Amino acid sequence: MTKTLPEWSPRSWHEKVAAQQPVYPDSQAVERVTKELANLPPLVTSWEIEALKSQLAGAARGDVFMLQGGDCAESFEDCDSTRIAAKLKILLKMSLVMIHGTKKPVVRIGRIAGQYAKPRSADQESRGDITLPTYRGDIVNRSGFTREDRTPDPWLLLRGYERAALTLNFIRALADGGFADLHHPEYWDLSFVPHSALAEEYERIVESIRESMSFMEAVAGRPDTTKRVDVYTSHEGLSLLYEEAQTRKVPHRHGWFNLSTHMPWIGMRTAMTDGAHVEFFRGLRNPVGVKIGPKMTPEWLGELLDILHPEGEPGRLVLIHRMGASDIAEKLPPLIEAVRATGKSVVWCADPMHGNTETTASGIKTRRFDNILSEIEQAFEIHHELGTVLGGVHFECTGENVTECIGGARGLDESDLSRDYRTRVDPRLNYEQSLEMAMRVARHIRHMDRRRVGGG
Ligand code: PEP
Ligand code: CO
Repeated sequence: MTKTLPEWSPRSWHEKVAAQQPVYPDSQAVERVTKELANLPPLVTSWEIEALKSQLAGAARGDVFMLQGGDCAESFEDCDSTRIAAKLKILLKMSLVMIHGTKKPVVRIGRIAGQYAKPRSADQESRGDITLPTYRGDIVNRSGFTREDRTPDPWLLLRGYERAALTLNFIRALADGGFADLHHPEYWDLSFVPHSALAEEYERIVESIRESMSFMEAVAGRPDTTKRVDVYTSHEGLSLLYEEAQTRKVPHRHGWFNLSTHMPWIGMRTAMTDGAHVEFFRGLRNPVGVKIGPKMTPEWLGELLDILHPEGEPGRLVLIHRMGASDIAEKLPPLIEAVRATGKSVVWCADPMHGNTETTASGIKTRRFDNILSEIEQAFEIHHELGTVLGGVHFECTGENVTECIGGARGLDESDLSRDYRTRVDPRLNYEQSLEMAMRVARHIRHMDRRRVGGG
């Protein structure tokens, strides 16, 4: 039975316990900043948000596939044209490979233009005799280990909004036609492919994508330079002051929209049913994601659905499971059953990154390509067996050739990690590993389809 909840407002979360929030020493500055933020123009629009929701309703049914990806944490410093273009291009390439594999439209959602706040396992960090607040992302404090750097600074909320706006401005310009080079052979750097046992298959996929693009151009009778590609944004809605200030009513639509991003999500560490994040998110008209980890129980998930998804509006709720390759087979099925029992439409999305993080003997945080792939493949199988749809995948990836994750066709190993390890938080798949992962996922989907057609 759904309980009637007290009245919601963008501020009602203040009555609840807000986990993972910094303590700002200057409360007057916080007030000035949030007031200013609340008056600045929105980053996204309600009609874009509604368009995404309807695409996600398709993902819940299995007619559309969702691809969400990007950095674990964006940094203000990385807000430059080369890096933004590289991120977008790898997302677009992965999506083309997935369109090819799934034969479905793919909705692209970046972890971008606002992914600046990070949950941390401890509030304080000690080095030697010195203990300081932990680094919580560029929108909160700075990563250097001095008291000045680590003191939460509310003005960074505004700097974050500005960086997000600059990023989004460039994304919109690129999405409006700057991707025309995608069909040039030299643009698909496949130098890793010969290192793979699946080399021929990979070459064939890319060739077939190029051919389809040329075919479309021939049909259109002109180079396809004006074709718009849709790219939506998402970030963890962790900093509630930032999210609240940009949550507004818009003319001619009912309800409240968080106009800082198309799809905010609730992280695993802030998904408590009585917490401030769940309270804040329940009032939004945006599609919202919730990360669900191995500690999630069917009862807890049932309560989350009651609170966050009372009407079961298709496309509104995305459940992003991140169990780990060794836990998913045991942990996921009871959760799927619990959701099924509600009869509500949800989008199931697999995040194979966050349950597969490990630390090497020399203390470097990494993830293995094989574990990531294994969790995704298991996720497809589990949903297939239970008669539900895996509607999407979620990656931490970058368009650059960093060395943060182990494995892939190039066989990166532990000794490679120190070569170009740049992430401030979690290890990302690099350009080659991301493209290869997309090909492996597409390949798995094709095999499953063949099995289905063959009645297996
Ligand atoms: C993340 O997506 O970067 C993250 C912190 O995930 P989770 O909440 O699933 O741990
Ligand atoms: Co992460």
